[in-house]
Amino acid sequence: MSQPSLPLVLMTHTLPAEWTMSLNGKIHLVCGPEDATFLAPILSDLLIEAEGLYCLLTVKVTEELLQRAPRLRVVSNMAVGYDNIDVPACTRRGIPVGNTPGVLTEATADLTLALLLSAARNLTQANQDARAGLWKTWSPTGWLGEDLHGATLGIIGMGKIGQAVAQRASVFGMQIIYTSLNEVQIPGWQRVDLTELLAKSDFISLHVPLDQQTRGLINQATLRQMKPSAILINTSRGSVVDTNALAEALQEGRIRGAALDVTDPEPLPAGHVLYNLPNCLIVPHIGSATRRTRRRMAELACANLLAGLAGERLPHCVNPQVYS
Ligand code: DGY
Repeated sequence: MSQPSLPLVLMTHTLPAEWTMSLNGKIHLVCGPEDATFLAPILSDLLIEAEGLYCLLTVKVTEELLQRAPRLRVVSNMAVGYDNIDVPACTRRGIPVGNTPGVLTEATADLTLALLLSAARNLTQANQDARAGLWKTWSPTGWLGEDLHGATLGIIGMGKIGQAVAQRASVFGMQIIYTSLNEVQIPGWQRVDLTELLAKSDFISLHVPLDQQTRGLINQATLRQMKPSAILINTSRGSVVDTNALAEALQEGRIRGAALDVTDPEPLPAGHVLYNLPNCLIVPHIGSATRRTRRRMAELACANLLAGLAGERLPHCVNPQVYS
């Protein structure tokens, strides 16, 4: 039933009701389907009246969409990354854009370590082989992997998640080198340039946002600078890696392996060459997928949304220029 006195908010997806309880009674909410990959037609038709947009990273918020939403006062993304949103176009209109940093740092770092360990110790293959009856005996040469202890982990992008990964990896006895815009003052962690990181790392983990500088950062040229024994882990954004170049490098054994939480395109279509490579582990963008973390992300996105509707500063705003 329509509630004309409350601001209309479009939520691109349906979320569990208990994650968005703070919105109850404060807005008139219209939700898209759970598995939406674009703005559902029913929401699209309502853009003209919408005052708030609550979106996931799978829906693009473009200039064209914004033109159709003249009353929009806030865009709240339920993700820390916001490359799905044309932020400059929002800024030009004075629309604050919210994201959800912090709450998913630990879960994403955990998943990064899980991928690193799985790739280092061939867990997928070992599990498949055990189920397939190929575990005949304790084999001195079977399923051999790599040690983490003493290995060098190169972290590209030492923000919150990069640091949480480095902390965990240090406990495993790994040497940490990193590239970052800013130096992080932790004894033992060494800031280096990209060339040195690529040449020295046994494992390389990506933790940069996707932007003009980072799109295609891992490409044919940078893959060639890695050790042939290197394992690449990506839990950032798929487009930071040139997919074809990676597939080629894995096929030709120019690097040992890759473990990907994110891909380009996403999802990777069935039958994609990467699915057929035994040295490539792929999971479906689950870095933040724990019950507690996803709920916290949803709640923080609600807080951003409500602040924007109330004309208050968002708790986490990616374009604070709108306030100046
Ligand atoms: C993000 O928040 O940007 C992740 O990719 C999904 O949790």
